[in-house]
Amino acid sequence: MPDWVSIAEESAIAADAGAKFFVDDIEVAVFRSGGDLYAIEGRCPHKGASLGNGAVEGCIVTCPWHDWKFDLKTGAGLTNPSSPVATLGVRVNEGSVQIDRETLPQKTSLAANDLDGIHRYLVRYGSLGWVGVFGNVDRVECQHRDRVILQTHRGQELGEILSTPEDLAAQNNSDKPGGEVVRLATTDEVTSHEPRSRELSPLLIEECSGILAESDIDLAIVDGEVLFDGESAVLYFLGDSNPDAGPLVTDVAKRHGLCRIELYPFIDPPKPEGGGCGKEGCGGGGCHS
Ligand code: FES
Repeated sequence: MPDWVSIAEESAIAADAGAKFFVDDIEVAVFRSGGDLYAIEGRCPHKGASLGNGAVEGCIVTCPWHDWKFDLKTGAGLTNPSSPVATLGVRVNEGSVQIDRETLPQKTSLAANDLDGIHRYLVRYGSLGWVGVFGNVDRVECQHRDRVILQTHRGQELGEILSTPEDLAAQNNSDKPGGEVVRLATTDEVTSHEPRSRELSPLLIEECSGILAESDIDLAIVDGEVLFDGESAVLYFLGDSNPDAGPLVTDVAKRHGLCRIELYPFIDPPKPEGGGCGKEGCGGGGCHS
């Protein structure tokens, strides 16, 4: 027997969009697509971001955090079939959107901590001092200037906290963070990683520059760093990207115990996954070896 509870006026849910609501302190996500309403459990089964803030296309919603996709009709996990979401009973009754309480999932332990369940941090990272917004659905207890481990599309990197979620509260929170604040870095991790990066980077720059020059590839490598994961190095160059450059430096990476060396244009910030560096000839993940 359905137990309908009103959650909003019908007009509160725009066309081809979603919204999040709470029923008995349980978060639910309601969407309108193609004139129909759909309701699913509100928190993503991956790491708990609010699905009501996800992008809707047809009957598919994309999680705002790591882009997992879900079928709004069936709840099927399209990115990860073993992680579906519950579909909920939803209807419009006398202008009100109603949810069937009997279809609510178990109460989640995640708190409604901000607009979309993601704590955002302003972080400086990379040897060029990029500044970006990173997030985590779990709160990472840290303060201004704390060193943290970040997960970026390049791998794991060290970063420095510039502002905490409280500091960012007044900012527009709808932008997708550029990566994840994984945890605080320990002093030992910082003091062992940074000297290695400082020592190895000049060698990589010298050897890669020599190889590129021998091949008449006109890239001036001006800076570099070894990422915290110890598997990747990034070298920054001036000049036009050249698709032949990456494969040429593969052996340098192997010689120094690295899995890869990526080449990035000096002036451009790194792009999220799939975009490459944006220059001709560079595929997803940058001009990597
Ligand atoms: S895909 Fe939703 S939280 Fe990761």
